Amino acid sequence: MYHRFISLLSLLPVALGAALGPRNSSTTSTACNNSPDLCSRSYSNITQLGAHDSPFLRDASTGYSSSGNQLVNTTLQLDAGVRLLTAQAHDNNGALHLCHTSCSLLDAGPLSSWLAEIKSWMDKNPNDVVTILVVNSDGATANTLHQQFVAADITQYTYTPPQTTAAIKVWPTLQSLIANNTRLITFVADIDPSTTQAANAQYLLNEFTFVFENPFENTSATNFSCVPDRPLAVRGETSEAVATGRLSLVNHFLDISLAFGIAVPDIANAHLTNANSGVVGNLGDSAKACATAFGKQPNFLLVDFFDQGNAIETVDKLNGITPVGRTDVSGLTDAQKGLSNAGSGRIGLLGGSFKTSTGLLVLVGVGVQILMALS
Ligand SMILES: *[C@@H]1O[C@H](CO)[C@@H](O)[C@H](O)[C@H]1NC(C)=O
Ligand SMILES: *[C@@H]1O[C@H](CO)[C@@H](O)[C@H](O)[C@H]1NC(C)=O
Ligand SMILES: *[C@@H]1O[C@H](CO)[C@@H](O)[C@H](O)[C@H]1NC(C)=O
Ligand SMILES: *[C@@H]1O[C@H](CO)[C@@H](O)[C@H](O)[C@H]1NC(C)=O
Ligand SMILES: *[C@@H]1O[C@H](CO)[C@@H](O)[C@H](O)[C@H]1NC(C)=O
Ligand SMILES: *[C@@H]1O[C@H](CO)[C@@H](O)[C@H](O)[C@H]1NC(C)=O
Repeated sequence: MYHRFISLLSLLPVALGAALGPRNSSTTSTACNNSPDLCSRSYSNITQLGAHDSPFLRDASTGYSSSGNQLVNTTLQLDAGVRLLTAQAHDNNGALHLCHTSCSLLDAGPLSSWLAEIKSWMDKNPNDVVTILVVNSDGATANTLHQQFVAADITQYTYTPPQTTAAIKVWPTLQSLIANNTRLITFVADIDPSTTQAANAQYLLNEFTFVFENPFENTSATNFSCVPDRPLAVRGETSEAVATGRLSLVNHFLDISLAFGIAVPDIANAHLTNANSGVVGNLGDSAKACATAFGKQPNFLLVDFFDQGNAIETVDKLNGITPVGRTDVSGLTDAQKGLSNAGSGRIGLLGGSFKTSTGLLVLVGVGVQILMALS
C-alpha cells in the first residue's frame, strides 16, 4: 500500500501539468525507456538494468527453486524498468527450452513462449527498447533460434545493425530505434554471423562481437572486478575492450557454493549486492568503479533478484534521469513468497533439486539431505 501510494503521488504532477494550461515539453513529451531525456541518447551511451536469467523464477511456479535468479516474471521485470533480459536456451529432447544449467534442474518452457511474453509487453509499450541475451547453451543453429522468434511473432521488432561481423561504435538513438519500430536488440552467445545470414536472421547478433563482459560466478563480495573476461580477444585489456566499440556488460551477482560443485544464487545478500551504496561489493560502487575504468558509463548492469536492493537507482544515477512510468514490484515480491515462503525469512530454505555436472541429483530438503545417483 505504501508503495502504491507513493507511485500515485508521483503521477500527480504529470496529471496536473496536463490539466493546467499549455504544453510543457518536459512533462508531456513521451518517455523512451522511462525518461524523455533518454530519447536522444545513443543506445551505446546509456546504462540499462539487466535481469540475469530472467525467466528462472524462485516462486510458486518452480516450487521456490533455489536455482531461481529472479522473484517476479519477465513482464513485471519490464514494468519495473529492467530493459536487458538474459536466459539460457537448451535442447530438451529436440525442443528449444529455457533451462537453468540443465532441463532436469529448472525448465521454464519453450524459448518461443518467453519471447511471446516479451512481444506482448512490447506491443503495449511502443516507446521502449528491449534487449535480450540468449545463452545458446547447446549450440542451436540460427535457423532453430529463428523459428522460435517466428513462432512468437516477434521478428517484426528486431533490429539489425548495418554490420554484424564487427562492433559498431555508435549505435542509433533510442528515438530512432523506436521510430523505425526496431526496438528489440538480440544478442546470442554464441552464434556465427555467417549462419545467421544464411538463415535470413541477421538480427541474431553474436554477443561477443558487440559486447564484452567482466567475470561472473563469483562467490565473494570482495571479488567483483571490471576487468574484461570475455571475449578472449580482450581478456584483461580494459581500454582495448572499450576502444573496440564493444558495449560493456557488468555481471554483478553472487552465488553460494554448496557441496558437489553446485552453486546457487545468493538471495540472502541480494539486497546488499544490489544496493546503491553500503557494504563492500554494492552495485553502486562497482558501477562507479567500472565507469572510471571504462572512461564511460557501463551499458548493462546484470543482477540477480533485481528488485532486492535499489539496483534501478544506480542505473538512473548513471543516466542522470528522474524516471517515469515504472511499476513498483517490491510489494508483489513478498506476495510471491520467494523471500517469505514457509517462514524461512530472507535466507530461504534450500528447497528444490540441483543436478551436478557429474550427473548426481541432490535433493536438499528441510533438514534432510538425500543424495542419489541418477540412472
Ligand atoms: C516544465 O516543467 C518543469 C517541471 O515542472 C519546469 O522545470 C520547466 O521550467 C517547465 N518548462 C516550461 C517551458 O514551462
Ligand atoms: C552521452 O550522453 C551524455 C548526456 O547526454 C552526453 O553529455 C555525452 O556527450 C554523450 N556521449 C557520447 C559519446 O555520445
Ligand atoms: C507475471 O506475474 C504476475 C504476478 O504474479 C501475474 O499476474 C502475471 O500473469 C504474470 N505474467 C505472465 C506473462 O506470466
Ligand atoms: C530507419 O529506417 C530508415 C529507412 O529504412 C533507415 O534509413 C534508417 O537507417 C533506420 N534507422 C535505424 C536506427 O535503423
Ligand atoms: C570471479 O570469478 C571468476 C570465476 O570463478 C574468476 O575467474 C574471477 O577471477 C573472479 N573475479 C575476481 C575479481 O576474482
Ligand atoms: C577471489 O578472487 C581470487 C583471485 O581471482 C581467487 O583466488 C579467489 O578464490 C576468489 N575468492 C572467492 C571467494 O571467490
